[in-house]
Amino acid sequence: MQPMTTTIGKIQLKDKVFRPYLSEEIIFSAVAEMAEKMNNELRDKNPLFIVVLNGSFMFASDLFKQINLEAEISFIKIASYQGMRSTGQVVTSIGMEQDLHGRDLIIVEDIVDTGLTLHWLKSNLESRGAKSVEILTMLRKPEAAKVEVDVKYVGFDIPTDFVIGYGLDFDEKYRNLDFIGVLAKHVYA
Ligand code: IMP
Repeated sequence: MQPMTTTIGKIQLKDKVFRPYLSEEIIFSAVAEMAEKMNNELRDKNPLFIVVLNGSFMFASDLFKQINLEAEISFIKIASYQGMRSTGQVVTSIGMEQDLHGRDLIIVEDIVDTGLTLHWLKSNLESRGAKSVEILTMLRKPEAAKVEVDVKYVGFDIPTDFVIGYGLDFDEKYRNLDFIGVLAKHVYA
């Protein structure tokens, strides 16, 4: 789905200015589209959704309600990102103690930036005996990719700009916005 960009309105948060980028309505229609696709394609499966915290919590909650498969859900936390720049280093991971042998896994990610986090996570899960590992992401920044990651379900491909809201943070803030905003670089570098 192509994002609808609006230049109307600015949001001042501390010293940063953001502009509205993806409204709640357009996010919901992308979520519904992804859920419908998964409901069709995974009809005979009992997938385990692995939600990457913290950023994916809102997206995962909206999506999972629309999944009508015999699906399960679990959560993992990976520390690899500080402020507005990906470090590319996976520092820690917590959660996911369960047995993954023979399971069809769907990683639920908020945003794929360099791809380094998912590259690490996918091979980590594969090495734990998963039958299949597919990736679902709300947002992807294709031009920021440093490694190739095969993403099966994508909400929106977006430019390499910093976005906040709908679970996404800037230094742990602004996750609670019900829309996605983009940092207005031309206003504040
Ligand atoms: P990657 O390893 O570079 O692909 O980074 C993935 C993680 O970086 C995501 O799960 C987010 O937590 C974070 N991230 C990347 N871009 C943004 C952004 O524009 N806003 C907020 N967080 C971001």
